[in-house]
Amino acid sequence: MSKFDTAPAKTGDTFVRHNPNYLKMFYGTDQVTPFWVADMDLPIADPIKDALRYVAERGQFAYEFNSDGIFAAISAWFARRHDLTLKPENFVPFPGVLTAISLLIRELSNDGDGVLIQVPAYHQFGKIITAAGRKAVKSSLINDAGRYRMDYADLEAKLTPDHVKLMLLCNPHNPVGRVWTMDELTKVVEIAERQGVTIISDEIHADIVYGDARFTSLSSLDNEQHVSVLGSPAKTFGMQSISNGYIYTENDAILKRMNHVEDSMYLGHGNAFTTFATIAAYEKGDAWVDELLSYLQGTIEWIDDFLSDELPKVKMSPAEGTYQLWLDCSDTGLEGDALKAKLGEAGFGATPGTWFDQDATRFIRINIAAPRADLQDALRRFKNVLD
Ligand SMILES: Cc1ncc(COP(=O)(O)O)c(C=O)c1O
Repeated sequence: MSKFDTAPAKTGDTFVRHNPNYLKMFYGTDQVTPFWVADMDLPIADPIKDALRYVAERGQFAYEFNSDGIFAAISAWFARRHDLTLKPENFVPFPGVLTAISLLIRELSNDGDGVLIQVPAYHQFGKIITAAGRKAVKSSLINDAGRYRMDYADLEAKLTPDHVKLMLLCNPHNPVGRVWTMDELTKVVEIAERQGVTIISDEIHADIVYGDARFTSLSSLDNEQHVSVLGSPAKTFGMQSISNGYIYTENDAILKRMNHVEDSMYLGHGNAFTTFATIAAYEKGDAWVDELLSYLQGTIEWIDDFLSDELPKVKMSPAEGTYQLWLDCSDTGLEGDALKAKLGEAGFGATPGTWFDQDATRFIRINIAAPRADLQDALRRFKNVLD
């Protein structure tokens, strides 16, 4: 029995993932176990709860900032867990990763410029690019028997300065679960550099990596030319509603510009709960994250076996990183609305693939940061409605 086998109680709460109105809208019923939003249905680490309790019980909420403490803790975490040297003074705090990306896009490109994303892509990317008045230029990843790889020829053709100013990289990749290797990243950086394109690297899923896969930060390749690293404790520690994000760059011009944006708009004023929880997470959360990773790994192995043995019509892309699994349902013969209807019938709240790529009509994504038994029950129900 693991502490992750039990989900925290949700009665009366307003979690997006469990909101019956959303469930009815997406699946036609609220009788669905939800695996769609990329947050956690698991109990968080005790040091985080203790820190939140400490701030609440202190009972005083005077002005209080501690960005230095946060970035010292984050730098030490990356050194310890990823052998990565990040200078605390090169971080800039922002309210969240999407806010940081939205501001970077506005600062580093102009109206009408192209921003390249690799599809399938985290669905908010296209939205924030378009909302900023830029054009989302898509490069499809190549599906190589389930394991996705980058299309360098396509990148070469599209990453041209008059076409695209920025590339938004997702590493590890949501939703296809790839953890890009040093070799792959080197090739992308080489193309981008040659074309004068700036890469914005969203590394929010950096800590969720399995088996032999190793996270390589873009900052370890080229730390001066044009690279920003974005992250937050949200995914690693299940702090989605109490986290702030940050950017990290060793490009002096980008650092200066983003410090000015943050300063002039007062965007770095994280609240005390976030500050204390973040420092506690990065300073005292190692053991909890190790346990989480081994629990998720166990869930992945169970799903892999279940699909091979009992539901071979559904195929899983190798899970190298993130707690999102990307499943190919092509052999079920179902797609689009028909596939969605079966998810509703099974009470299996997976996300339709079309959220991430309009052509991924036969794919679904499931968030496995939930008690294993919930996933087991839902997958068995899915098998039953497909049989
Ligand atoms: C790749 C990626 N970036 C950013 C986010 C959201 O980050 P934030 O909540 O800090 O804006 C997510 C959430 O799913 C994500 O998967």
